[in-house]
Amino acid sequence: MNGSVLTIASLKGGSGKTTLASCLAVHWQLKGLNPLLVDADPQRSIVRLAERDQALANVKVLEQAETNVWSKVEQHSVSHGITIIDTPGFDSEITISALAVADIVLIPVKASPLDVDRMMDTVGTLMNGVKGWAPTFRCLLTQTVKGSVISRHVRAELEDGGFPLLSSEMPNRVAYAEAGLYGATPSMIEPAGPAARDIAAIAEEALALVSAKRALSA
Ligand SMILES: Nc1ncnc2c1ncn2[C@@H]1O[C@H](COP(=O)(O)OP(=O)(O)OP(=O)(O)O)[C@@H](O)[C@H]1O
Ligand SMILES: [Mg+2]
Repeated sequence: MNGSVLTIASLKGGSGKTTLASCLAVHWQLKGLNPLLVDADPQRSIVRLAERDQALANVKVLEQAETNVWSKVEQHSVSHGITIIDTPGFDSEITISALAVADIVLIPVKASPLDVDRMMDTVGTLMNGVKGWAPTFRCLLTQTVKGSVISRHVRAELEDGGFPLLSSEMPNRVAYAEAGLYGATPSMIEPAGPAARDIAAIAEEALALVSAKRALSA
């Protein structure tokens, strides 16, 4: 699996990119996968989280908010089980560079109609942004409320539109922000809790995709 790269991107700010990136990286760190977490966002959200008390379980963080992020990732990812890149958003050249090096792309999308429309633009950019390159991508519903009508509708709308979705979701839980106060994630604070279980399910799906992609291109 060394050299595998998962890029997290979306057009819409605040869709949960940084939360997802840090939670996945910590989950894999605790599983002993030796992940690398790349902060490609000039806002430095990951770097700042990692500076807090619990330092994201000492995940190795690489700060690279520049358009050469692809070459830095190519260089460093070989010595890590998996590399996760947190990006600033699609209107940035840095994101295009982070997409170019990705085995798979996860697109967090909030379960609201406005966010879904924006997500469809994201995917358009994905498909047309880098010539001759067809990435494997999956949308991931975030900040969902269990059993709510809106989550079900948005999932159905995306499925009808032919957008591939992870079957796991990242429900709305205060545990993410609370853990973040200490530079931690729910997998560190409450490993058997519901948020940690959500992350484990997302991580498992993502890893299966990465393995499948690697096997195809081997
Ligand atoms: N599943 C969730 N449940 C509750 N709150 C969440 C969840 N995911 C993210 N949040 C909160 O939503 C806010 C935005 O999340 P985050 O910073 O991860 O988004 P982002 O896409 O990285 O934003 P930006 O575009 O600014 O980089 C944060 O306050 C975060 O704590
Ligand atoms: Mg962010």
